[in-house]
Amino acid sequence: MEPTREKVDVFDTTLRDGEQSPGASMNTEQKLRVARQLATLGVDIIEAGFPIASPGDFEAVYQIATEVDGPQIAGLARAREADIARAWDAVRPNPRPRIHTFLATSDLHLQHKLKMSRAEALARAVEMVAFAASFTANVEFSPEDAARTDTTYLCEVVEAVIGAGAKVVNIPDTVGYTIPEEFSRLIRTLKERVPNIAQAVLSVHCHNDLGLAVANSLAAVKAGARQVECTINGLGERAGNAALEEVVMAIRTRPDLFPFTTHIRTEEIYRTSRLVAEMSGMMVQANKAIVGANAFAHEAGIHQDGILKHHATYEIMTPESIGLPRSAIILGKHSGRHAFLDKVIELGHQLDDAHLEAAFARFKALCDKKKYVFDEDVQAVINEVVHRPSDYYVLRFVEAHAGSELHPRATVRVWVEGEEREATAEGDGPVDAALLAIKEAVGTDTVLEAYVVKAITGGTDAQGEVTVKIAEPHPPDQMPARVISGQGANTDIIIASANAYVNALNRMESWKRQRSQTATPPRPLGTTP
Ligand code: KIV
Ligand code: ZN
Repeated sequence: MEPTREKVDVFDTTLRDGEQSPGASMNTEQKLRVARQLATLGVDIIEAGFPIASPGDFEAVYQIATEVDGPQIAGLARAREADIARAWDAVRPNPRPRIHTFLATSDLHLQHKLKMSRAEALARAVEMVAFAASFTANVEFSPEDAARTDTTYLCEVVEAVIGAGAKVVNIPDTVGYTIPEEFSRLIRTLKERVPNIAQAVLSVHCHNDLGLAVANSLAAVKAGARQVECTINGLGERAGNAALEEVVMAIRTRPDLFPFTTHIRTEEIYRTSRLVAEMSGMMVQANKAIVGANAFAHEAGIHQDGILKHHATYEIMTPESIGLPRSAIILGKHSGRHAFLDKVIELGHQLDDAHLEAAFARFKALCDKKKYVFDEDVQAVINEVVHRPSDYYVLRFVEAHAGSELHPRATVRVWVEGEEREATAEGDGPVDAALLAIKEAVGTDTVLEAYVVKAITGGTDAQGEVTVKIAEPHPPDQMPARVISGQGANTDIIIASANAYVNALNRMESWKRQRSQTATPPRPLGTTP
């Protein structure tokens, strides 16, 4: 008989820490779609956002708490009464709401950021946990920068907040500084030295600045942590957080080392990863573990031969286990509407008739240009046609001229809220010229922060997928207030680039309009509570 395995709770913070990735902001509708899929994936807790950060953040958390069934819904709050009360108002419609409050405890943060003594911080943490507990018993406390906090003081804080009512104590490696051996020791020390530790679930929250977030989280689980905070695709501040799919698949793939279980339906991992990539505009790198395009691709002949003889020769887990169909080629020019619809459903989308019609037309056009159409191509078609932000701008026409004897030049026609505008520009290359022409037609002063192109699948007829990042004008020595990304895909790289740029401009416009309706300054993480 299978030995019973202890459960590790999966706390997903894609919609909070993940959304803090530069360029990954999502609107309420996008967050709701992600939250519903996270519920299908089977996460135990969804951290839906930081309600005091802005009315938009509050609204998204409130909607998720109201509409998403299954997981507990958490709202983040600094250790301040106003934050906590706001978080509570946002999560309270949910049957199992959680308040997650935090306060930094490392000397570095106390002295330079909070300007508080250790004693003051401890008293504040206790007071605010008790305040949160006056709303709900489901209170989580995080001593921010715990991995760089003096261990004896950390033990005191943890004991005190549990005494004040914290049911979950989360140990963040806020700056991704620790290594597995050290982090494991810290978790063991807390378990040994904090007398009331059994009254709370010990959680970890690891950042990936040294590429160790997953390794540190796993080491912590082995040492006694029973909640892991993570994000889909490893999104998150700076280098990101521990990737949910990596933590979960490591536990599942190595039961000999991890006698634990999670409630994640791993067959939903791939679908969730794609949805988050689409909604956030943050592409997944091809060689990313578990969900990258190459994660289950076998290029070398000797590997292909081995796989055909026995898949375990070069696969430690099956593509099916994460919901990735094994077949690579899926559709071609003879595929009809039915086959296309089946594929759309298999990829996790529900399209209304208008969207389906538009996506099918775009798919047929693609089949004329490409011999084989892969899952990734269909996904790109859906991204292009369906999940667009409100269309303030629509690209109607683009034509570019370039060559060894020509000065690159492009002409575009763009609909700007119903009015057609045409512009022509010269640039360093045809892509540059097309983007400059769009910029002129739209009349925007946004600046291009990044431009990335990749082939979605193999072959010279592959679709190029372009991601652009744009921001409002800012001094060159300062970071932009908000970076917005956009994506486009086409077998013609100029068209893909133009689509990506227009997509980013639409997202930027949507963000600006949302911002102008709200007077509150953006996200307050890291500011003095
Ligand atoms: O990284 C961090 O310390 C956080 C806390 C708010 C948990 O995100
Ligand atoms: Zn974090």
